[in-house]
Parts: sequence; structure tokens; C-alpha cells
Amino acid sequence: METTDAFIGLSCVDCGETFDPETTTHRCSDCGGILDPAYDLDRIDLSPENLAGRPFESMWRYAELLPFVPGAAVSLGEGATPLVECPALADAMGVGRVLLKDEGANPTGTFKDRGQSLAMTAAREHGAADVALNSAGNAGQAAAAYAARADLDAHVYLPSRAGFTQKAMTEVHGADLTVTDPIDGNSQIGDAGKAYAEAMEEHPDWYSAKTFVTPYRHEGKKTMALELLEQLDWEAPDGVVYPTGGGVGLVGMHKAAREVRQLGWTDELVPMYAAQAAGCAPVVDAYEAGADRHEPVPDDRIDTACNGIAIPDPGASPLILDAIRESDGGAVATTDREILDAAIEVARAEGLEVGATCAACVSGAFALAASGEFGPDDTVVLLNTGAGNKDVDALRAHLGERDAEREAAGERGDGADGPAGGIE
Ligand SMILES: Cc1ncc(COP(=O)(O)O)c(C=O)c1O
Ligand SMILES: [Zn+2]
Repeated sequence: METTDAFIGLSCVDCGETFDPETTTHRCSDCGGILDPAYDLDRIDLSPENLAGRPFESMWRYAELLPFVPGAAVSLGEGATPLVECPALADAMGVGRVLLKDEGANPTGTFKDRGQSLAMTAAREHGAADVALNSAGNAGQAAAAYAARADLDAHVYLPSRAGFTQKAMTEVHGADLTVTDPIDGNSQIGDAGKAYAEAMEEHPDWYSAKTFVTPYRHEGKKTMALELLEQLDWEAPDGVVYPTGGGVGLVGMHKAAREVRQLGWTDELVPMYAAQAAGCAPVVDAYEAGADRHEPVPDDRIDTACNGIAIPDPGASPLILDAIRESDGGAVATTDREILDAAIEVARAEGLEVGATCAACVSGAFALAASGEFGPDDTVVLLNTGAGNKDVDALRAHLGERDAEREAAGERGDGADGPAGGIE
């Protein structure tokens, strides 16, 4: 296995046992806990100055802080995404500076590519022939793409509610796609999880690329924070607002912020804010209740059009809540209407395309600024996890509803001109 110098093993987040990454592939064999790649940071031979001399081409420029060497990477040029100034949003929010980290610029249009690049590298290093996962949609598409690149057979389990683009592209990349049957409307991520688990029972040799089952997806997402901090000259922003489902990106970003602080490249952690949809907000609820873990949202209570954050039972919630609290961040839920309005207003005011799920970070940042959490001296980063065109159906449908409401209001002559809260 071609691992980096500083990577010393896989450490269980629950019992602390460390495992050899050559022989251990997934969860802790003692307690079933999540495994986390561990590093001896004294062995890291890298500095911000070295990095400045490297081309800004892909996330693999941070390889010293990743488990595998670039020569082993299954890569499509993921990462190296732009950090775009948003002056109209800053004005509307009443904060000093708003920046949008645009993960839509990734090969399959979302930040999921970073995690799948590392997961497929691990699968190939372990000699797997097949990989499998269930997903809300984008991770399935990303896995299909990276498996194609690595010449692995991918088995992807999606709920019926996953988007058309994600289902279609999963098949276009040649993966074996299973969409779980609609149940009382739509099937959910948990239904896809059951189908995946049954398949894994039958095929124990498949490499799981599932969230927090492979130790490497959150590790790939670390690079979002490394890049962001480098783009800000290693000065931590006052907040990163992150659309949170399973929390892979939030946990990975927090881990990176801790590592670079330990390396002395930054003074501060990055305050991480989890943004969720009010119709499925287990992390926000747990944060507000002061709890250490979430209470699952029953499937029949999920009520949001934002597929990527319709995650009712995020198993890693203790890690998410720790990251939020340790970084002095927070958690915020906004309604679908606020989220979808925000996506449309960002597209109009800034020209940037944010997906329906992703826009929760925009409406969440507005809510946080309105509550006084962010002020005129603050720099706020919106983590746009994916491209707007991944969710065109939800965005267009919302636009249609707004137009119909405006027309109806006009006919009634009550002068209403649509929902409040816009930034035009
Ligand atoms: C576009 C998008 N944003 C955010 C998320 C949530 O990701 P995480 O597991 O990192 O919380 C997803 C997950 O499917 C997604 O597709
Ligand atoms: Zn353990």
C-alpha cells in the first residue's frame, strides 16, 4: 500500500484503538466505531511556503496530510475550487465579507468527489474489484465516476427521491444502479441503506464506500478546509456555514482546521455552523437541546425538497456536535421556502449557481446574521457543496410556485409581490 510518511494508522473514535491500514479496511473490529486516519504531525515535511509554490490544480497538492501518495491517487482533478467574493450578499446580510466556496466546480459537480477520490484510492489499494454504497444521490454519482476511473464495478443504492441527474449519471458511468421503490410517496435514504446492507451480506468482498464506513471520505473532505484556509492566507474566517446531512464534510473540515492549528499554520479553529432544512433537522435539534447525539427523525416526518440534507439518522452526530462546539460554531434550520428563495436570489444577485440542498447555507447564514451571530466585522464563508444544475427541478418548481402566487395576489389586487426575505 502506498501510504504517506506521516500516516500512522486508523484510530477508533470511540475506543481509541489504532489499526494497521494495510489489513483494516472499515470499522473498528473491537467496538464497531468509526475509524479515523491518524498522523504523526512531526513527520509532516510541508509548510505554507512550500504549498504556495505548487500549482492550484487538485486536492492532491495536500497529499502530505492525506493517507495515500499522489502516485496512487484515483483522481479526476477534484478540488482546487474557487472562493468567490459575494458583495451583494454581504450587504444584504450586514456582515463584513461573504465568500462562497464553490464546490460546484468539481468533476461531477459536488464536493462528494473529494471523498470518493480517496475512497476509490483505498478500494484499489485493498485490491477490491467491486465497490458499493447507498447515497442520497450525489455521492452515488461521484462513486460511479471514480469507480469508472479506477476500473472498479460500482453498486449504487439510491432512494426514489434522489434527483434525475444523479440517477442518470450513475448509470451513464456504468454503475449498477438500484433505486428503492417508492413507499407512501417516495423512498428515503434509509430504504436505500437497507437494500445496500442486504447486498453487502451477500457480497462481503465488496468494498464499502458508504459514509463513515470507509475511513476515507471525511478525510478527503479535509481538503476543503485546507484550501479555504490557504485561499484566506491561513487566517480563519469567523464562520463557515455548511449544509449538513451526514456531516462528512463538516467533520472533515474541522479535523483539518485542528491539524493545521497544531502545525502552527493558523492560530484559530474555524467556527463550523451546521445548516439544515427545518423539515429534517436532527443535528440542529440536538445542538439546541444541548445533547451529545441526535434523535432520529421518523421517515414519515421528513418534509424537505433538499435531497442531500434529508438525512434523518446521521450516525456520526456525536462527531458533528463535537466539531460545532469545539470550534465555537453553531447550528441553524431554515424552511424550504427560505432555502429555495435563497438559491434563486444568489443566482440573481451574484450570478452564482447553488443547488437546492446547498442553499441551506445561504438562508442559514442570513438567519445567523439576523440573530446577531455574524456582524459587520465578520468574514462568513458559504460552503456551496454543489452545482445549481444538479437540482434544477426543485429550483424551477419553486420559481413556478412563486410566479403562480404572485399572479394570484395580483388578481386579488392585494399588492403582494411574492415572498419576503429576498435580497434583490
Ligand atoms: C449537495 C450536498 N450538500 C450537502 C450534503 C450533505 O453532506 P454531508 O454528509 O457532508 O453532511 C450532501 C449529501 O448528500 C449533498 O449532496
Ligand atoms: Zn473501537
